Amino acid sequence: MKGLSKEILQQLKERCLKEIESSSSIDDLENIKIKYFGRKGEIKLLFEELKKMPSEEKKEVGAILNEINKEVRLLLENKIEKLKENSVEYQNYSILEKSLPGVSLPLGNIHPLQKIYNEIIEIFLYLGFSVEEGPEIEFEDYNFTMLNIPYDHPARDMQDTLYLDLPVSDKGKILLRTHTSPVQIRVMLSKKPPIKSIMPGRVYRHENLDASHLFNFHQVEGLAVDKGIRISDLKGILTFFARLMFGKDVLIRFRPSYFPFTEPSLEMDIQCLVCKGKGCSVCKNTGFVEILGCGMVHPQVLYNVGLGYEDYTGFAFGLGVERVAMLKYRIDDIRLFYTNDLRFLRQF
Ligand code: FA5
Repeated sequence: MKGLSKEILQQLKERCLKEIESSSSIDDLENIKIKYFGRKGEIKLLFEELKKMPSEEKKEVGAILNEINKEVRLLLENKIEKLKENSVEYQNYSILEKSLPGVSLPLGNIHPLQKIYNEIIEIFLYLGFSVEEGPEIEFEDYNFTMLNIPYDHPARDMQDTLYLDLPVSDKGKILLRTHTSPVQIRVMLSKKPPIKSIMPGRVYRHENLDASHLFNFHQVEGLAVDKGIRISDLKGILTFFARLMFGKDVLIRFRPSYFPFTEPSLEMDIQCLVCKGKGCSVCKNTGFVEILGCGMVHPQVLYNVGLGYEDYTGFAFGLGVERVAMLKYRIDDIRLFYTNDLRFLRQF
C-alpha cells in the first residue's frame, strides 16, 4: 500500500513536526490541525487506508500510525495552548476575578421638570384631551397676528421676542415662539371642532432671569372649541387639574386679566406652597403664584381660522410648567431646574 509504508509514515511525521515548529500563530496551527486531522485530513485518511490492509501488516503499521497521531496531536495542542496563554485576551481574562461582585453603574433619574410635564399631560389625557405639537421656530402671523395681536399693538411688547435673522416669509417674520398659543392656530386651521387638545412645548422670551423667570421655559397650552362651551367649563377643568396636581385642599384664585386672544381673560393663581401663603420670594410676598393665563377664545381668533361663521365657542389656557414644578416641589428658585446640580436633581 502506497501511503502506508514505514518510510512514508516517518516522512509524514517529520513533515508535520517541521510545520508545527515553524508556525508561530494560532491561526496557522489551527490550519495544520485541519490539514492532518480534519474530515479529509491526511492522517485521518491514513486510518481509513489502514482498515483495508491485510491483518498481518495492519498491526505493525497501525501501531506506528497511532504513535504519530498521538505525538503530532500533542505537540500541536501544546503549542496552541502556549500561544493562547501568551495572548493579550488570555492575560486579560486570567486576571478577571469572576467571583467578585460587579461594579454597578450610577443610575440616573427622570428630571423633575420632565416628571411634572408627564404628570400634567397625564391629567389632561385622563380628561379626554389629545396631545398636539407645533414648531419652536414660528411665523409672526401664528405667534401674534392671527391671535388678534396686530403689528402696532402694545401686546407685542408684553413678550419680548427673539426674531431670527431670516428672510421675511409670506406669514411674516420668523421668530422663536414666545408662547405655545400659536399651536392653537395650527390646530384650528387643521381640524374641525369638536377640538379638545393640549399642546406642550418649549418657549423663548428675551427676559431677565430671576427666581421665578427664565428666558427659555415650558408651557402647556390647552384648547377646547365646540358648540356650547362656557367659561364654567374652563374653570371646572382647571380647578380639577389643580386639585389633582396639588391636592384637594389647594387654594385657587382666578383673577381678571387681559390677553388679546381671549375675552374675557383670566389668570389662575395657586396659594404659594413654598411659604403656605405667608409671603416669600417665590410669591413676591403676595401669598399666591400665577401658574397660567386663560380665557374664552376671542371671536376674532375664531374668524381668523375660519371658524367664526358657526356658533362655536371655546376656551384656552397656557400653563407654565416650571411654575407648577416650583410649587409642587417647594423650590424657591426656578433657575435650580437648569443648573444640572446632581445634589439637587437626585432629590426627586
Ligand atoms: C401666555 O403666554 C399666554 N399665551 C397664555 C394664554 C394662553 C392665555 C391661552 C390665554 C389663553 P403668560 O405670558 O402670562 O401668558 O404666560 C403663561 C404662564 O407661563 C405664566 O402664568 C407663567 O406660569 C409662565 N411664565 C410666563 N413667563 C415666564 C418666565 N419668564 N419664566 C417661567 N415661566 C413663565
